[in-house]
Amino acid sequence: MSSVGFVAVTGATGAVGGRVARLLADRGVRQRLVVRDPARAPQLPGAEAVRATYDDPDALRAAFTGVDAVFLVSAAEHPERVRQHLTAVDAVADAGVDRVVYTSFLAPAPDATFTLVRDHWKTEQRLQERDLAYTALRDSIYLDFMPFMAGAEGVIRGPAGDGRLAAVARDDVAEVAAEVLLGEGHERAAYDVTGGSLQTFDEIAAQLAEITGRPVTYRRETLEEAWASRASYGAPDWEVEGWISTYLAVGAGELAVVSDTVERLTGHPPTTLPELVERRPDLVAGLLPDH
Ligand SMILES: NC(=O)c1ccc[n+]([C@@H]2O[C@H](COP(=O)([O-])OP(=O)(O)OC[C@H]3O[C@@H](n4cnc5c(N)ncnc54)[C@H](OP(=O)(O)O)[C@@H]3O)[C@@H](O)[C@H]2O)c1
Repeated sequence: MSSVGFVAVTGATGAVGGRVARLLADRGVRQRLVVRDPARAPQLPGAEAVRATYDDPDALRAAFTGVDAVFLVSAAEHPERVRQHLTAVDAVADAGVDRVVYTSFLAPAPDATFTLVRDHWKTEQRLQERDLAYTALRDSIYLDFMPFMAGAEGVIRGPAGDGRLAAVARDDVAEVAAEVLLGEGHERAAYDVTGGSLQTFDEIAAQLAEITGRPVTYRRETLEEAWASRASYGAPDWEVEGWISTYLAVGAGELAVVSDTVERLTGHPPTTLPELVERRPDLVAGLLPDH
């Protein structure tokens, strides 16, 4: 029986936090869902919803007080994301909670090629500085995003060269998180959470083509082409840089990691892209010929 009986789950209105909350509810764990809008929180047995954003230290501290562990989901892309994460980590510590599981990203470093990963490095640093019994789940890119990367045109575009990655399903990320939250011996550890094998974007495009029965290709872009092809979105530079640097990081080999974390903690091999689409056909709806 786990010693963790009451868990605060942030991001419960989102994909990963929502899945973790469901898995914990299935196991009879009492939860406090810490969300920006309680009206959108999932209705689950043993769960109460409270409002707190990562900009509100007092609400966060109150939300975390009294729980045995916190599942801390990294915030949406935002220029102030590091400050938000540090506020959340400090609130965990100030609430007197020792145990926290944080959704990080592969190879966090102050000079990571993927710019948004630098935020995770700073957040992990703060988890250490506050002397928390944390577990950093260093996720690869979500497998669920591969069809979206191809877009309606069926073209994955980016400056990734022949770089490889082992994308991981959000379902697997959530299962790992639930195991780590309820299990023993994961304190002060960082786990790479990846798919089962490395693939190039050519191979991912070929898999998507086979699954959907329509052409899907990978177009290698130069850095200049990558900025030009995204100019029409009108997104701020920091955001476009985040998108493009994902591909650069793959090209630089920084995501070429395969770990045994999913199998070790869940008892099943990592979900593959065909398996994921079979479970979630909606993921490729935008790629199907009649769309
Ligand atoms: N590994 C990857 O490929 C990858 C890709 C994209 C993102 N991520 C990171 O992984 C996280 C979880 O992924 P996901 O798929 O579950 O994302 P998601 O479906 O967008 O859910 C994000 C959750 O975080 C909450 N949130 C975001 N910013 C917040 C803030 N400032 N204060 C409080 N709550 C906030 C959202 O609340 P609302 O419902 O109110 O918006 C939502 O519940 C993301 O937030 C992002 O940091 C990883």
